[in-house]
Amino acid sequence: MNAEAAERLFALEVFAKRNLVIVRGRGAEVWDAKGRRYLDCVAGIGVAGVGHANEAVAEALAAQARVLVACAGVFYNDRRAALLRKLVEIAPPGLARAFLCNSGAEAVEAALKFARLHTGRAKVVAAMRGFHGRTMGALSATHKKAYRDGFGPLVPGFSFVPFNDPAKLRGAVDDGVAAVVLEPVQGEGGVRPAEPGYLRAAREACDESGALLVFDEVQTGFCRTGRMFACERHGVIPDMLCLAKGIAGGVPMAAVLCRDGLRVPPGKHGTTFGGNPLACAAALAAIAFMEERRLAERAEELGARFRDRFERRLPARVRQVRQAGLMIGVELRERCGPFLSALADRGVLALSAGPTVLRLLPPLVATEEQIDEVAEALQAVLA
Ligand SMILES: Cc1ncc(COP(=O)(O)O)c(C=O)c1O
Repeated sequence: MNAEAAERLFALEVFAKRNLVIVRGRGAEVWDAKGRRYLDCVAGIGVAGVGHANEAVAEALAAQARVLVACAGVFYNDRRAALLRKLVEIAPPGLARAFLCNSGAEAVEAALKFARLHTGRAKVVAAMRGFHGRTMGALSATHKKAYRDGFGPLVPGFSFVPFNDPAKLRGAVDDGVAAVVLEPVQGEGGVRPAEPGYLRAAREACDESGALLVFDEVQTGFCRTGRMFACERHGVIPDMLCLAKGIAGGVPMAAVLCRDGLRVPPGKHGTTFGGNPLACAAALAAIAFMEERRLAERAEELGARFRDRFERRLPARVRQVRQAGLMIGVELRERCGPFLSALADRGVLALSAGPTVLRLLPPLVATEEQIDEVAEALQAVLA
């Protein structure tokens, strides 16, 4: 039985599947079971920033797997300690401690709990079109009806404001609000960057009311948008920064970076796998690779290059191109589904972000030629 048949038979099919069996990757490319090569602008949904089968990450994993894989959080561990130190070193100033966990939703979930515990308040303000994950708390902060319907009652206390509207945000943040949760670039909501001044307004509203500002950089973190973290472009530092996807070269891992002074008493929160030495070793190798190869600058350059190439012959179907580094959204005047299939036929894998937005999240190690190939393929299928 091949992989497709087996998954169809045995998986609880929560995904709308595409007809491709991906078996191998290297850098920005993946291969299917028939040996066909694709440029991978899905990258595990923005995960494989340092590239598929990254040698440094593979070496670190293999070496650590022979030394120690499991180590409960109640003990100290050398790899975990090294990663915590590294995260705080690269974090925006003032984010002085980290909680390690395993997925984006778990990071958001933790941040919501920490905010309620720290402030003694219950309310959470999030943005329309925002996406924060599928667990009950993260889902309660997620706006899209289709994701929420059928799972109620969700966690009480959550409300939504239009993204990029500072006045509406200020109006919603009173002294009952524990946290304001925002993505600096909305990912699933259509690749929508925060406008200049918006995140600062959020910071001010939080400072005035005593609410904590949480940035969800699960998708934007680790060089994706042309900075190590997208909030750096805005010069705004949150009280908590949620990270996942690109952190460990594709190995499941996540983190919440917390500002100095935020404390969670022992026993109030925890995780079995979070901060395990294997994932920590992978993350250390991935972050070192990002720094050595200057992947943030690389993402900035390649994103600009894509835009320049693509917009030279902008297909009439395109309503708008939105882009931050190598987080690229091409909004069409029609539904994007058929174009995703046409792109795959031309050897480029891409994502959607809502019904009309084509989303490209290529590995940050892509070459100039590969980025040009993506731009040309997109022009061809949209022509
Ligand atoms: C901004 C953001 N937050 C949270 C999540 C949830 O992450 P995970 O799927 O790892 O739980 C995602 C996933 O796409 C995301 O883009």
